[in-house]
Amino acid sequence: MPMLDLSPDELLTTTRAVRKRLDLSRPVELEVIRECLEIALQAPTGGNLQTWHFMVVTDAAKRAKLAEIYNRAFDEYRAMPHYAGKKFQDNAMRGRQQAKMADSAEYLAAHLHEIPVHVIPCMAGRTEGVQTVWAATMWASLYPAVWNFMLAARARGLGTSLTTVHLMFEKEAADVLGIPFDKISQGALIPTAYTKGTDFKAAKRQPLDDVLHINDWGSQ
Ligand SMILES: Cc1cc2nc3c(=O)[nH]c(=O)nc-3n(C[C@H](O)[C@H](O)[C@H](O)COP(=O)(O)O)c2cc1C
Repeated sequence: MPMLDLSPDELLTTTRAVRKRLDLSRPVELEVIRECLEIALQAPTGGNLQTWHFMVVTDAAKRAKLAEIYNRAFDEYRAMPHYAGKKFQDNAMRGRQQAKMADSAEYLAAHLHEIPVHVIPCMAGRTEGVQTVWAATMWASLYPAVWNFMLAARARGLGTSLTTVHLMFEKEAADVLGIPFDKISQGALIPTAYTKGTDFKAAKRQPLDDVLHINDWGSQ
């Protein structure tokens, strides 16, 4: 597949959550998804156990069912006090960013069924009642692969956004896809499509010094 001309740092800093700029009319070849997943498999896992699985959903009826589940979850999330779209009302810059993000997230929810491919990264095992050290090790053995997938997708002109709200109804999604819920955990749902244009920019983040601690938590 043709690759965009991006330096490593450009790739790392311009892989955004793409929602409104997904090209819903352009089909995505299974081959390019396979290429990105081959790169995902180069990520590290605890003990090299490679506990991952990747569910790729292209079937329109299944995508529609997942979109219905996602929207039901999103409705609940929107009503929650910690809904991201309502945070930072006392900080103008972050407030504007959050409002923009919420608008973009609404668009994604409304169009989810039209997005040609959904990738659902999964892992063997479940973490209910598992000690933090092992739960962290399990999830941290999936997410580097997830990010590798998203970076590889960006390098090929695809856009993705990592989403987790459908996990409120994870069992229902498992039933749609034949995933054995008692043995396999879903980690996310990643809508994937080619992007309209490829000129994405680095995001504005809070200053590093606000979150950096050197040798002691209280240091600045
Ligand atoms: C753990 C996690 C869960 C997320 N869940 C959702 C989600 O359910 N729906 C959604 O639209 N975006 C979701 N996002 C995307 C974030 O909203 C997005 O990363 C954020 O707006 C920052 O945008 P950027 O990635 O372009 O910098 C999630 C991101 C992460 C890391």
